[in-house]
Formats: sequence, structure tokens, C-alpha cells
Amino acid sequence: MKIHHTPVLLKESINYLVTDKSGIYFDATLGFGGHTEAFLKVLNEDAVIAATDVDKDAFNFSREKFANEERVKLYNFNFSEIDSVAKIESFGFFDGIFADLGVSSFQLDNPDSGFTYREEAKLDLRMDKSKVVNAADLINSFSEEDLADIFYNFGEERNSRKIAREICKQRIGFKIETTSQLTEIITKVIPFKNQNKTLSRIFQALRIYVNDELSILETFLDKSVTLLKTGGKIVVISYHSLEDRIVKEKFKYETLDCICPKEFPVCKCDKKRRIKILTKKPIAPLPEEIALNPRARSAKLRAAERV
Ligand SMILES: C[S@@+](CC[C@H](N)C(=O)[O-])C[C@H]1O[C@@H](n2cnc3c(N)ncnc32)[C@H](O)[C@@H]1O
Repeated sequence: MKIHHTPVLLKESINYLVTDKSGIYFDATLGFGGHTEAFLKVLNEDAVIAATDVDKDAFNFSREKFANEERVKLYNFNFSEIDSVAKIESFGFFDGIFADLGVSSFQLDNPDSGFTYREEAKLDLRMDKSKVVNAADLINSFSEEDLADIFYNFGEERNSRKIAREICKQRIGFKIETTSQLTEIITKVIPFKNQNKTLSRIFQALRIYVNDELSILETFLDKSVTLLKTGGKIVVISYHSLEDRIVKEKFKYETLDCICPKEFPVCKCDKKRRIKILTKKPIAPLPEEIALNPRARSAKLRAAERV
């Protein structure tokens, strides 16, 4: 298997994440092990990194890559199961939790993964192939209104209704099964100059919906804050505004000491501040990194510390 994926914001990730060089860490998005490998380089021999990836190819590749590395514990799990990993490994708390969200360059460029409109592939978009519903299922069976809502809510696509209408018109007596069939339908109703952006927004929307990415991210963030040791760090790299907004809002919420309505004279909630934000503004890659790895251009890193 030919692998290419360049890890993003490596130095920044290490600097924010690693506090105790003999600590216990969690890499939620193992991928091809680029970040895990970099963390291992600065950690001591008695440190541990538990890591998850739902994608079988990524997991199998990394299992081989780290076969002789006793500090690494790998799980072909969804990262929302971080608490199960902690239980299985008998970890009380983590010193650092890291997530590099989205998909890898390998997933994007490998036609078998079906993640991109640029390659001819089956319309699938599941990271975890054991999930029941794939992108073709919903394109062929969801109502026009539901499809439009998915394109609008998860792709921020302004032409969502027009595109959903065309899909529903074209699928009468015909099953849309491949990326190129969907692409052809979309490009019919979108002016040439906007086509690439629209296509990437529609594929992003389908991917987010099929993999339930946003609610899984919320669950993961919530469990992560609970599972961090005092002084431990959480570092999240996101690649689009919907993900980044969830991370930003969750971090902000976790800094609050009270969520009672303003008119309450005294606090009646039990809410306690659980983190301190370390990145007032998200960290973006430097132009040098983007020049070497254009896919880094949309990356935003946010970090926080458990208090
Ligand atoms: C951007 S890549 C990570 C690349 C990795 N940092 C590296 O350097 O090789 C994101 C990875 O996270 C995985 N992933 C996405 N959502 C996931 C989830 N909910 N649970 C587990 N893995 C997930 C994807 O399958 C993909 O391999």
C-alpha cells in the first residue's frame, strides 16, 4: 500500500500536548502514525500512547509500523470510545489528549475509499465500513428536503435546494452509485467557476452526515475533558468551520464557573470550570508549512489545559 500523509502542525502539537515525558497520552486519530511517531520521539521509554482509528487501512498500516513499539496501544475504535480504551488499559487519567480531525491524504486520494469527487469510486464515504448506511444509500432514498438540509447544515452550501431537487429528478428510474454520477448531476446546475467549491462542500456534507462526525466530536470532547489529569492538555486540529466552532464553543463552555440565568441572585447550578484555554486564537500553519503541504492550509489548532 502506497502511503502518503504529511502530519500537520507537528511542532506546535508536541509543544502544546506534552507535559510529562513519562506520561499517558491519547491520539484519537492515529491515521498513518505521523503525530504518534513524533510524540514518541520526545517521550521517555516509560511513556504510553493509546491511539484509535476507525479506518481499517490506517489502523492496519499503523499496527505494522508500531509492531515493535511497546509504548503504543492501538485500537480500531471510534475516538468517542476513549473512555472504553481508558478502562481496558486501566488508565485513570490522561496527561494529554490529541485529535487531528477529518480524513488523511491517503483516504482522500485512494479511489477505493471514495472520499473525493476527484476520483471515480463507489459513492460510500464511510470511514468505518461496518456502518450500515453509506452516501449512495442516502442520496438514493432521502427526501429532497432532507438532502437539502444535509447539504446546507453540514456543507454550508447555498445552492442546497437546487442541488437536492436535481438529484431527486435524476434518480427517478436510475440509481446514483458512483462519485462521477453524483458529480455530473451537481455540475449540471452549478456555474463552472463555482463547481469545485460546491462539489467539495457537498462531499464534505455527505461525509459528515454518514460518519455522524459532529455529534461524535461533541461526545469525544466531553469525555476527554473528564479524562484529563489536572494540568493535562487537550489539543485539537480541525479543518473546517463546523468542527472548529464545536471545539471553540466546547472549550469556552468548559471555562465557565456558572451557567445560571442572569436574573438568578445566587448561583444554583453545579457547573465548575474544568479547563483553561491556551490558544486565545487558533494556531494556523506558517506559510512555509502550507507551501510544503497545501492540505495544511485550512488547519486550526486549539489547545486547553485541565484545571
Ligand atoms: C487527518 S487524519 C490523521 C493523520 C495522523 N495524525 C497522521 O499523522 O498520520 C484523521 C484520521 O482520523 C480518523 N478518524 C476520523 N474520525 C474518527 C473517529 N471518530 N474515530 C476514530 N478515528 C477517526 C480517520 O480515519 C483518519 O485516519
